[in-house]
Amino acid sequence: MPIMEPYRIKVVEPIPITTPEDRRRWLAATGYNQFSLRSEQVTIDLLTDSGTGALSAAQQAAAASADETYAGARSFYRFREVVSDLTGYQHILPVHQGRAAERILFGCVLSKGMISISNTHFDTTRANVELLGCVALDIPCEEAADLDSTEPFKGNIDLARLSQLLSGPERPRIGQVLMTITNNGGGGQPVSMANIEAASALCREHGVPFFLDAARFAENAWWVTRREPGYADWTPRRVAQRAFSLADGCVASLKKDGIVHMGGLVAVNDPELAERCEMISTATEGFRTYGGLAGRDLEMLAQGLIEVTDVQYLRARADATRYLGDLAKSAGVSIVEPAGIHAIYLNAKRLLPHLSAAQFPGHALACELYLQGGIRCVELGSLYLGTLDEQGRLQSGPPFELVRLAVPRRVYTQSHLEYVGEVLEEIAKQPERVPGYRMTHAPKLLRHFNCRLEQIHD
Ligand code: F0G
Repeated sequence: MPIMEPYRIKVVEPIPITTPEDRRRWLAATGYNQFSLRSEQVTIDLLTDSGTGALSAAQQAAAASADETYAGARSFYRFREVVSDLTGYQHILPVHQGRAAERILFGCVLSKGMISISNTHFDTTRANVELLGCVALDIPCEEAADLDSTEPFKGNIDLARLSQLLSGPERPRIGQVLMTITNNGGGGQPVSMANIEAASALCREHGVPFFLDAARFAENAWWVTRREPGYADWTPRRVAQRAFSLADGCVASLKKDGIVHMGGLVAVNDPELAERCEMISTATEGFRTYGGLAGRDLEMLAQGLIEVTDVQYLRARADATRYLGDLAKSAGVSIVEPAGIHAIYLNAKRLLPHLSAAQFPGHALACELYLQGGIRCVELGSLYLGTLDEQGRLQSGPPFELVRLAVPRRVYTQSHLEYVGEVLEEIAKQPERVPGYRMTHAPKLLRHFNCRLEQIHD
């Protein structure tokens, strides 16, 4: 079947149609920082797929009948039943979002000086490890470094390196191994079941806890059914269940594959660890039967976690993102191959060779998408990941200059994606006209949210 959204639209929200003059004025007023734009200034918002999905009628119906009791709410038990069927974990704690789950679990597993190993820690995940005085070590597989390679599982962890670390002198400091599925920090690439199995076996052999960062567990499962030999006949749900069964627990931002606006969870098997997590969660999130969420959030989650593994839904989502990737490529803009499922990542360095890393080419492309088409997205390059001096000048940058176009779930149609493709085509016709940027205000912490820049016109 050709790409087709497997739903029809019952409630609509107008999107702002703006003029180039408006956009120039608004973006300049933010100091060329798209995090400071108001949503009424954005036509197509591809900043994130987190908490931005559209609810189904069934989720809204569930929300309407939610139980808002403080302790022991019916809605919590429904949520727990669904999560327990999906993950198989013994102890399930709802929390308000992924980073709360990270803070709680890592706080119970890691102590100062320890090392957390991952295929790639997401930025808040890294921050939560580092805030504990620990080291977040990323060991993605080698194929991940080649942006053009179409290897099917470039989200994998480097198993040889993992084995070396676990049997090496640092072993006593290794507090956990965390597998991020799909690997958001690594181009949105999936992790194979074989890689999860092998990492799990290594961790068991060396007595190190193995957890999943399962924010996009269903999207990862989809690629396993499509790309990994032996799984073509499995349902995405069964694949996800198997992945969860290989770990000692998980943290998850449910704002992604829970298809809700707010929510997360910590789930583990070890009763003692669960007790410690629950104590911190009660002190900082809420009692164990709500954990910072309303009954209606828990109801919508229970329903969303069922809908998200639907084959028609996942196929349409994967096809839509691949289509967006094809549009980018036919416009002349390279992407990280193969296209992800929650996002495509544009290769800004290749498109804008006239800009040095110090002129923030990824940021320049992201700004251009806004200036030309009102499209908001986020840079993953020297602005976000580089090391700057006191004056905001780049000292060292990452090897890539990427721009992530994240696709919210069930929100935009094929013609919205085609519009994005047309804007990219306009930019790619004369990429040398895209100006570089210099930093005028560079906060030390969380720079990308609050920095200000100006255009460079020589
Ligand atoms: N882990 C991964 C893999 C994520 O992508 C995110 C969030 C988190 C943890 C943190 O979850 O936001 O609920 O606290 N990613 C969003 C993004 C923000 O745009 O990729 P959170």
